[in-house]
Amino acid sequence: MNVLHSSLWRWLWLSLALLMGLGMAQLAIAQADPEREMTTAAPAISADQWRQVNSGETGPNFRDTRADSTYNLINSSGETWRQLRNRWVSPYGLIVILGMAGMITLFYLVFGRKRLDEPRTGKKLFRWSVFMRSLHWTMATLFIVLALTGLNLLYGKFVFRPLFGDAFWSAMMSGTKVLHNYLGPIFGILLLVLLIKVFKANLPKKHDWEWFKKGGGMIGKGHVDAGFANGGEKVWYWILATVGLAVIASGFVLDFPNFGQARDTMQWANIIHAVGALGLTAVALGHIYIGTLGTEGSLEGMTTGYVDETWAKEHHNLWYEEVKDQALTEEEVAAQKGAKGTGDTASSQPS
Ligand code: HEM
Repeated sequence: MNVLHSSLWRWLWLSLALLMGLGMAQLAIAQADPEREMTTAAPAISADQWRQVNSGETGPNFRDTRADSTYNLINSSGETWRQLRNRWVSPYGLIVILGMAGMITLFYLVFGRKRLDEPRTGKKLFRWSVFMRSLHWTMATLFIVLALTGLNLLYGKFVFRPLFGDAFWSAMMSGTKVLHNYLGPIFGILLLVLLIKVFKANLPKKHDWEWFKKGGGMIGKGHVDAGFANGGEKVWYWILATVGLAVIASGFVLDFPNFGQARDTMQWANIIHAVGALGLTAVALGHIYIGTLGTEGSLEGMTTGYVDETWAKEHHNLWYEEVKDQALTEEEVAAQKGAKGTGDTASSQPS
């Protein structure tokens, strides 16, 4: 009866999530109308003037005279950028993020939480040092603020402007810009440190291929081999090391326009930054789900520094083999933390 009850709830939630996803996607596509926006953004431009702009003709009235620039302010590349951003990046970015949220909800409702197969032994293995935990949670906080402010820069005008009016919206956007512009470079530096710290643990190994073929253990029987980082974590690492760094680099180009970069460079930096950051936000949702609701026992490693032996054996068996003789009882962990105030002991992981 209980099982029936809970599966009914699951399917109800599932239908609700799907309906919401479809509704939001519809909304996103409806917003992608740069033509309509043009009537308010540049109402007085005639067809003749657009023809002049598209022909690449430059007039003295359209020139940016700052810093000896002869750049034509009204030009077709600006219009290409505007179309790309408003017609493609904004709506499809929203669809990717909401699609990911929908898929995670669906996955959770269908498969539920990945619980430990065996009971916990109660003995603990040291996994994340205080330094790594502080670094991780500082970055996670910064990332969430950057994602929210970034989303506000793209979509805020559709939500908060009609809700609260121009005065509130403009103050909100100024605050958003300041936060986003200043926190971005800090996040970038911390990301570099994190990437260097866990680089070795994330080098691809032969057994990772097996991990993927067996869907991280979901396909077929038996456990799949994994070292300190499993195949999924390695993918997250290399996404951060490639897309993450591209987002940081393009963010720097946008943040410091005083290095003489032309408007075309800024436009491309903007597109690369937005596409990368929206993709990263979608993938981060998956990482956050796996680290919290999705897998029993993962979060405690990143909060306390220690994981249960059973978790280590089931999720990172090769790492477990390396460190199993360093397992501690709860009392020993408490005594160590009390004595050192850090809990940093073991040596076979990033510290
Ligand atoms: C609230 C948000 C977040 C939660 C709950 C979370 C949770 C976790 C947990 C539980 C682990 C440890 C997994 C293990 O021991 O195997 C972990 C590892 C990690 N997290 Fe997060 N995380 C969050 C946000 C982020 C963000 C925003 C980033 C980067 C932009 C990030 C990057 C990483 C990296 C690089 C690792 C190490 C994985 C490896 O070994 O390669 N996390 N996270």
